Amino acid sequence: MAKQTKNPSASCVTMTELVLPNDTNTLNKLMGGRLMHWMDIVSAIAAQKHSNRIVVTASADNISFRHPIELGDVVTLEAKVTRAFSSSMEVSVKVFAENIPSGTKSQSHSAFFTFVAVDQGGRPIDVPELIPETDEEKEMYDGALRRRQLRLVLAKRMDPADASELKSIFDVQA
Ligand SMILES: CC(C)(COP(=O)(O)OP(=O)(O)OC[C@H]1O[C@@H](n2cnc3c(N)ncnc32)[C@H](O)[C@@H]1OP(=O)(O)O)[C@@H](O)C(=O)NCCC(=O)NCCS
Repeated sequence: MAKQTKNPSASCVTMTELVLPNDTNTLNKLMGGRLMHWMDIVSAIAAQKHSNRIVVTASADNISFRHPIELGDVVTLEAKVTRAFSSSMEVSVKVFAENIPSGTKSQSHSAFFTFVAVDQGGRPIDVPELIPETDEEKEMYDGALRRRQLRLVLAKRMDPADASELKSIFDVQA
């Protein structure tokens, strides 16, 4: 039977948080762990919306903390599924920090999370295929296969020799 298909827009989620004293370190900056928690939640909701299933976090790609987010800032997190494989989905998360009194807003962080849809017993289960629509969604979709191979090689779940998409980056025999 043909797989159900869905567009990325069906999984779009926006979450807004206010950085309060309990979220910050002693320099009044948002703690990295709190931000990662919010990123995990918003991207899990996006994966649930795509799959209509329970999902578990399989991995989070490299998150760099280049720009601190300040106490009192409003943090907006935007997530959507970029590509679905068999049971796993790659989710893009973008984080924006806004200081309302000064009128500044900028993208502060971004990352890719991978979620796996599971049944009640925690066993992986197939998810709908994702059909990208916009140019940006098509670009994200194309890059997702390369990012998947890289994270599976790093997790020792794929032999580098089988990572055909990585040939242009690394000198591997595929
Ligand atoms: C994620 C998990 C369900 C995978 O189960 P598994 O028995 O290893 O299943 P498989 O090897 O068949 O892999 C299933 C899918 O997970 C993907 N996967 C497994 N490990 C991964 C990793 N480190 N990064 C990205 N994807 C991963 C596989 O590529 C596969 O995707 P596909 O079906 O789309 O091809 C299992 O490892 C698990 O339950 N981990 C704990 C999850 C968790 O507790 N998260 C935090 C709390 S939500």
